[in-house]
Amino acid sequence: MGENQVRIFDTTLRDGEQAPGCSMTLREKLRVAKALSELRVDIIEAGFPAASPGDFDAVKAIADENLGPVICGLARCNPDDIEKVHKAVHGAERHRIHVFVATSKIHREHKLKMAKEEIIKSAVGAITMARELCDDVEFSPEDASRTELSYLAEVVSAAIEAGASTVNIPDTVGYTVPAEFDELYRYLKEHVARIDEITLSVHCHNDLGMAVANSLAAVRAGARQIECTINGIGERAGNCSLEEVVMAIKTRAEFFGLETGVDTTRLYPTSRLVSSITGMHPPRNKAIVGENAFAHEAGIHQHGMLQHASTYEIMRPQDVGLSRSNLVLGKHSGRHAFRDRVRELGFELDEFETNRAFQEFKKLADKKKDVYDGDIEAIVMNADNVSSGPWTLKSLETHTLSEQPAQATLTLIDEDGAETTISATGDGPVAAAFLALEQATGVTLVLKNFELHSASVGEDAQGEVTVTVEYDGKSYRGNGTSVDIVEAGSRACLEVINRILRRRQRDDSDIDSTASMERATI
Ligand code: KIV
Ligand code: ZN
Repeated sequence: MGENQVRIFDTTLRDGEQAPGCSMTLREKLRVAKALSELRVDIIEAGFPAASPGDFDAVKAIADENLGPVICGLARCNPDDIEKVHKAVHGAERHRIHVFVATSKIHREHKLKMAKEEIIKSAVGAITMARELCDDVEFSPEDASRTELSYLAEVVSAAIEAGASTVNIPDTVGYTVPAEFDELYRYLKEHVARIDEITLSVHCHNDLGMAVANSLAAVRAGARQIECTINGIGERAGNCSLEEVVMAIKTRAEFFGLETGVDTTRLYPTSRLVSSITGMHPPRNKAIVGENAFAHEAGIHQHGMLQHASTYEIMRPQDVGLSRSNLVLGKHSGRHAFRDRVRELGFELDEFETNRAFQEFKKLADKKKDVYDGDIEAIVMNADNVSSGPWTLKSLETHTLSEQPAQATLTLIDEDGAETTISATGDGPVAAAFLALEQATGVTLVLKNFELHSASVGEDAQGEVTVTVEYDGKSYRGNGTSVDIVEAGSRACLEVINRILRRRQRDDSDIDSTASMERATI
């Protein structure tokens, strides 16, 4: 790698997925990992294998796909964690073991109850063991930004001597500011022998809204790997946002003199995939991937834009994969037009997926006059959830009258084609439809959250609903899309019910094994 090349280390599937409400099923993680490899990130941190059997399986499944990027797994400084990472990642031709231990005074005294020397000993032992299993070992002194500088330099020196090829400096609690972080990197460069032989990395959280700025300060000071997540998802206020940091380096190339290997035209589709899977949609004004990121409302701006786009636009929408022309499709649009639009929106579907998505498009075009880009994206994102059985929703009818209970009647079809029709009443149409679903399928859920997002524009826009429900002490998330929001919610709920039933039938690994209660915590 040239000295101006910055490696992009994506941790959406580890630090991002750890955030409340962002857990993903194995199948969803595989979809995201494939999208990340198409985005051409350098390293995918696929998970924390010792956290739960589900995490282990997901990291292994991703590594076994051998997608191209280095596949990395996180481990605490103990043999069991390190062995688990090795077992999970070694299927990928290029793999990495990432070990970490906290070093700040606060963590040493209150969390670990370990002395400074013990921490160095444990880090050295872990790195040495990891190096016996794998050439590519990364070490992170957790809470580095709140660690005494001279002690941090000692830890980093010991890690390099023990064989770490990447040393990452985490701002674990999002506490630092750019000028201070710059000083920290310069201090390490001055005080740590052989630091030029390894890759220095940066890992920032966004508690004070400075994760991207701090990461950029670190690369200015010599870091050549940035750890980040799609849409900036992650614990609390999140992590450094991949799309923002990558576009800052690209757009201000003359200032930074650096580049990444990311195919920026895949940024928007990857962002959409992650938000549709997690149900965490970026705010409209989010830089790079927000709905308004390239919208110009003020008359004076629109006038300038018409004269020359560069008056108010520092990036071109197509450079981030936002080729939304909002070209309208309708019920007379053919398969070719549909497939071309899907491609222009950045999705690569195989023949089977195209057919399935096209059928959904036809059904939608019957209900809705104009089909916009947002609708097509929603169809493609949800194509995976459609008809994966055992139950399929055939029809849903709801009746509401103010001050009276709502009524829902739905018909489900089972795997053998037999129909079941059930009616139920509830406080509102969603409650009535959910009750009918429970009665028809025999699966009782506790609804914890119901989130609605509009996929496109206008009164007949499709609603994308994400439900979070509890079943048997575990938390599950499901997605559904429809022009009718009660139907979208019912589809989301049915997706979860189907997963539970499939698991009952054949211990399906597709199950959301990442329920927080089953996980070891960092
Ligand atoms: O924020 C942090 O310190 C981490 C480490 C495990 C790298 O996520
Ligand atoms: Zn982190």
